[in-house]
Amino acid sequence: VGSGHVAHAFTAVDRQPRPGELLGVLDRLAAEPFYGSYKHRLRGLLQSERGSRVLDVGAGTGANALALAAESGTEVVAVDQSMTMAAAIRARTRAHVVVADGHRLPFRASGFDGVLADRVLQHVAEPERVLDQMLRILRPGGRIALADPDYSTQVLDIEDRELAGRVLGYRAQAALRNGTLAHRLAGLLAARGLREITVEARTLVVRDPRAVDNVLGLRSWAHAAAAHGYLESADAERFVEQFDAAVDTGRFMYAVTFFLTAATLGR
Ligand SMILES: C[S@@+](CC[C@H](N)C(=O)[O-])C[C@H]1O[C@@H](n2cnc3c(N)ncnc32)[C@H](O)[C@@H]1O
Repeated sequence: VGSGHVAHAFTAVDRQPRPGELLGVLDRLAAEPFYGSYKHRLRGLLQSERGSRVLDVGAGTGANALALAAESGTEVVAVDQSMTMAAAIRARTRAHVVVADGHRLPFRASGFDGVLADRVLQHVAEPERVLDQMLRILRPGGRIALADPDYSTQVLDIEDRELAGRVLGYRAQAALRNGTLAHRLAGLLAARGLREITVEARTLVVRDPRAVDNVLGLRSWAHAAAAHGYLESADAERFVEQFDAAVDTGRFMYAVTFFLTAATLGR
C-alpha cells in the first residue's frame, strides 16, 4: 500500500494487495498520543454504562470496542465491511462482530443505546445514508458519537505557499471521498432533530513528519496528486524538495483539526 493512497484504501480494505498492512497503519496511529486521547474522549461522549449496548460502525482493528468493554463494561457489536478487519476484531476482542456495509446495517430499529463511527464517514460513498442507518438502530434517548478529521482545516509551512495549498487541496477534495464533511456533521444531526449536539475540536500538529510519515504519508501526497492529474510531476518533485528542506531546517509545520460530534436522539 503506497502511503499516499492509504486513505483511499479504507474504502475497500479487502481489495488491497496487502490488506493486512492497513491493520498495521491503524495500530501505529492508535499508539500515537493524539489518537489515543481523542478516541478516549469520543468513547466518553457515548456516556455508556455497564450493560449498555453500543454499535461501532467501521470498527477497524477493534481498538474502540476493546476499550469500551474495558472502560465501562459496555457490550459492543462491531461492524466492518472488511473481512480482514473483522478477523482482527474477533482475534482481539470479545465483541460480537458482523461483516456489513454501514449503508445497510442488518439490525432492527432502536436496538442500541449508543452508536459510534470513528474515522469512517470520511470514507463512505453516501455519508448521510450511513448516518440515517446509525440513527435508525439507536433507541430514543440513545447517544451518537462521530469523529473525523476535516481536511479543509489543514495548514502546512513550506517555501511555496501556493504549491502547499494545491497539495492540501488535493488531499481535501480528492484523496478522500468526504475529506471536508466533519464540520457539517452537527448540521446534519440538527436537521434530523437530534438534541444536545456538541462539537469538540482536536488539532493534530506535526512538527517532525518522519515520526509519523509512514502513517500519514504527507511527503507522498504531491506525487499521489500528480498520479491523479491534479499536479504536474515537476511540481510534485518541487514539493518533495521543499518538504525535505523544511524538515531539515526545523521549519516544518503541518496541522489538521478533527471534530468530535455527539448528540442525543430525541425521545
Ligand atoms: C480509518 S479506518 C477506522 C477504523 C476504526 N474506527 C478506528 O478508529 O481505528 C475505517 C474503517 O471503516 C471501514 N469501512 C469503510 N467503509 C465502510 C462501510 N461502508 N461500511 C462498513 N465499514 C466501512 C473500513 O473497512 C475500515 O476498517
